[in-house]
Amino acid sequence: MKKLIVANWKMYVTRLEDADALFELARRGTKEQISQATYDLVLCPPFPYLFEARRLGVPVHLGAQDVSQDTKGAHTSEVSPLLLKDAGIEYVIIGHSERRAQGETDETINRKMRTALQAGLHPILCVGEPSNIRSQGREATQTFIYNQLKKACDGIDTSKQEAGNLAIAYEPLWAISVNGKGASDKPEDTVVITSFIRELLKAKPYGLNPRILYGGSVRSTNIRTFLDHHEIDGALIGKASTEPKEFELILKELAK
Ligand code: PGA
Repeated sequence: MKKLIVANWKMYVTRLEDADALFELARRGTKEQISQATYDLVLCPPFPYLFEARRLGVPVHLGAQDVSQDTKGAHTSEVSPLLLKDAGIEYVIIGHSERRAQGETDETINRKMRTALQAGLHPILCVGEPSNIRSQGREATQTFIYNQLKKACDGIDTSKQEAGNLAIAYEPLWAISVNGKGASDKPEDTVVITSFIRELLKAKPYGLNPRILYGGSVRSTNIRTFLDHHEIDGALIGKASTEPKEFELILKELAK
């Protein structure tokens, strides 16, 4: 299984020239260093820069940071999964904790999952527990994750081929950086949760085998410690993927 590396730019990049510089690093990294047989590299810039990446022909996969739960109509500011698909955008992050913190509910996330899958997109569903749950121990953490997954995946037709497009990003909330400041999970703790998610989704009623990533303060200095575990199928990288020097170092790590 190829590892999935997702760069979530969030709202860190606000100038076209900065976006172009990151695209150029990605172009060089993928052309000269990173084995495309080993990794799928997905860049998730803000919506307008998706089209800039297309214009520049950056040889990476592209993903949106969010998507509408509806497909068409009177929905000001929303972006349809049909539009994304039509524009050649393959992936979409759904249920990021920063969206949940803005009021996104489990029901909305579930609708987004279903419309995104139906449109043929590859959803990257984010799940993760807050610190007060983690401090209650493994069982409380697993129950929390189980509930998030169950609600997000409810009603998905797992017999359809498109259900195979799903990826899960395990992102404990307390590990997600604010402006690059934060401390990651311990990889040996992460594998307990990613293995739990894998078993859960492999079993009935799902029968799925998604790639399961880790996210939360991933940087060049620790990415290998996660990817070296076969239970972790990739990484979701926020702030570090928008810092040119760090991003270059991350690409170098992937090239090793
Ligand atoms: P971070 O963000 O790498 O800045 O911690 C990860 C994420 O929230 O996707």
